[in-house]
Amino acid sequence: MDVSYLSLEGKVALVTGACRGIGKAIAVMFADAGADVAVSCRNQPHLEEVANEIRGMGRKALPVAAHIRKTEDLVNLFEKTREEFGRIDILVNNAATNPGMGLLVDMDEKMYDQIMNTNLKGYTVLSQLVGKLMREQGGGNIINISSVGGVSPDKGLGLYCISKAGIIMLTKAMAVEMGDYNIRVNAIAPGLVKTRFSQALWSNEELLKQEMSHTPLKRLSEPEEVARIALFLATDASAWVTGQVIVMDGGSSL
Ligand SMILES: NC(=O)c1ccc[n+]([C@@H]2O[C@H](COP(=O)([O-])OP(=O)(O)OC[C@H]3O[C@@H](n4cnc5c(N)ncnc54)[C@H](OP(=O)(O)O)[C@@H]3O)[C@@H](O)[C@H]2O)c1
Repeated sequence: MDVSYLSLEGKVALVTGACRGIGKAIAVMFADAGADVAVSCRNQPHLEEVANEIRGMGRKALPVAAHIRKTEDLVNLFEKTREEFGRIDILVNNAATNPGMGLLVDMDEKMYDQIMNTNLKGYTVLSQLVGKLMREQGGGNIINISSVGGVSPDKGLGLYCISKAGIIMLTKAMAVEMGDYNIRVNAIAPGLVKTRFSQALWSNEELLKQEMSHTPLKRLSEPEEVARIALFLATDASAWVTGQVIVMDGGSSL
């Protein structure tokens, strides 16, 4: 069977939040599929490790530390990637935060700014920078990691859910605008994935039991399962798909 449409040979990808968890799984899987990859998070030594893993697979890697909330860092990340590779075919906006839980009415402005500026503004600014280059180069592919919380709210995670819902609209709005330039924009909305980000949930037996009680597939997901969906969206396997949100949550949102 010919599955060459799943190849990323000759492509350049930029993945944020690539030190660990979902972002790392995506960066490594993209390299395995043939892409050269620029990887970013805030920690340079961690990035060097991921970059070495990618180089060990025979691909080029560029590790650039950046805080997703700082526009100057995103500009530097974009410039360095363009200098190194000359083009960016795939952008994966993945780095996000959820520093606090609580009812929306109790959340202060500082928390609002922190979550929105990191998640929604960070994704938007990097998409603008890379989107302009993709427009010049005649095409590209943007994948935004949202959350099932961006589709239906989770009590106590209101601000995070609002930011993730914003990312879904960012995805749809950019898909409408960028189709003229052969740029596809899609989102993945995962449920509970076993990473450090969600450790407070899956390491608490009671909370995990509650979560599984409304999850038809009765298990958490692994970062590699998200990476497979990202690979589908990044390749010609999904050539006719844009502006879509793929919910992958073991059925929990049903
Ligand atoms: N895990 C889940 O259950 C789940 C479910 C739905 C959606 N998601 C989404 O999936 C994405 C990845 O999460 P994950 O579970 O893989 O989390 P993770 O294992 O904690 O990884 C997060 C990555 O983002 C980086 N990062 C965090 N804050 C950053 C910032 N301000 N600037 C730059 N990089 C930053 C981290 O590195 P540094 O800290 O070193 O910078 C790390 O590489 C997020 O968008 C999250 O909302 C996760």
